[in-house]
Amino acid sequence: MFDLLVVGDANPDVIVSGAPSDLPFGQKERLVESGAITLGGSAAITACGAARLGLRTAFVGRVGNDGLGRFVLDAMAERGVDTSGCVVDHQLGTALTVILVRDADRAILTAPGPLPLLGVDDVDPGLAAATRHVHVSSYFLQPRLAAGLPTWFHELRQRGVTTSLDTNDDPSGSWDGGVGEAISETDVVLPNEAEALALTGLGDVVAACRRLAELSGLPVVKCGADGAIAWRNGELIRAPGVAAQPVDTVGAGDSFNAGFLAGWLGGRDITESLRLAAACGSLSTRGHGGTEAQPTLDEALSAIGLA
Ligand SMILES: Nc1ncnc2c1ncn2[C@@H]1O[C@H](COP(=O)(O)OP(=O)(O)OP(=O)(O)O)[C@@H](O)[C@H]1O
Ligand SMILES: [Mg+2]
Repeated sequence: MFDLLVVGDANPDVIVSGAPSDLPFGQKERLVESGAITLGGSAAITACGAARLGLRTAFVGRVGNDGLGRFVLDAMAERGVDTSGCVVDHQLGTALTVILVRDADRAILTAPGPLPLLGVDDVDPGLAAATRHVHVSSYFLQPRLAAGLPTWFHELRQRGVTTSLDTNDDPSGSWDGGVGEAISETDVVLPNEAEALALTGLGDVVAACRRLAELSGLPVVKCGADGAIAWRNGELIRAPGVAAQPVDTVGAGDSFNAGFLAGWLGGRDITESLRLAAACGSLSTRGHGGTEAQPTLDEALSAIGLA
């Protein structure tokens, strides 16, 4: 039995810090501050964060039959995530993301590999029947998964399994593809501020959160260093940011998702779950990449005086 099944993207992140603002094309070499290869993919980082917080967590995604795929699966297994339901794609190489970090900003370049082929039919029904909650990440990178999501989430909820969705960015910039239908079958929807504005076409984050509440039971919007907001029963709920001096903020939103789900599935109220999530997002910025500095539950609760 699992508390949480995460379905979505997993790939290595190649993180290059101190990138120049003008990229040195013309076969010119530049030296930068540092480089690292870490576990990436919003879904994979969320799964690792949840396992670190003590949730019994399984992950389903597609990787290639290659060294990068083995790196991804090993990294998740080392962090206590059950990856036995993952699909190894024999046609396409594992997805890869290159992240160029410059001060507080990032450029993100992703080769999607087999991610667009992941579908609801890749998830073993036995696994979906053995979890309390299903979380899906990166809607717009995975069109097959996206197409099946409204029906699958509807069926899951009828069986008493709760659902959450972090759309993340839409690289095409179109922000449609039936995402509203998916959100209306989602118990907790977890965009960041820019994504909430793009999803609703509104210019104000509180108004966007309120609009999302017309579709989803509980919209939770991440606002970077300012923390997060949620809208429930006609009421705005705010959690302040937890001060950090970030090494990098890669995956902070995904660690936030893990924190919110750990709080909410653990029976905490929305205010406490939101504060716990903000602590998990903030603490995750202490290290390079998404998973290196993810906190335990005690560490996160201590950071907000709830331990
Ligand atoms: N500079 C920061 N200082 C403190 N906390 C931060 C900082 N950046 C992010 N966080 C924490 O992490 C949470 C999520 O960050 P953010 O709003 O950047 O999400 P995101 O854009 O979805 O991130 P991701 O790039 O992982 O998708 C915030 O709500 C906050 O709690
Ligand atoms: Mg995000």
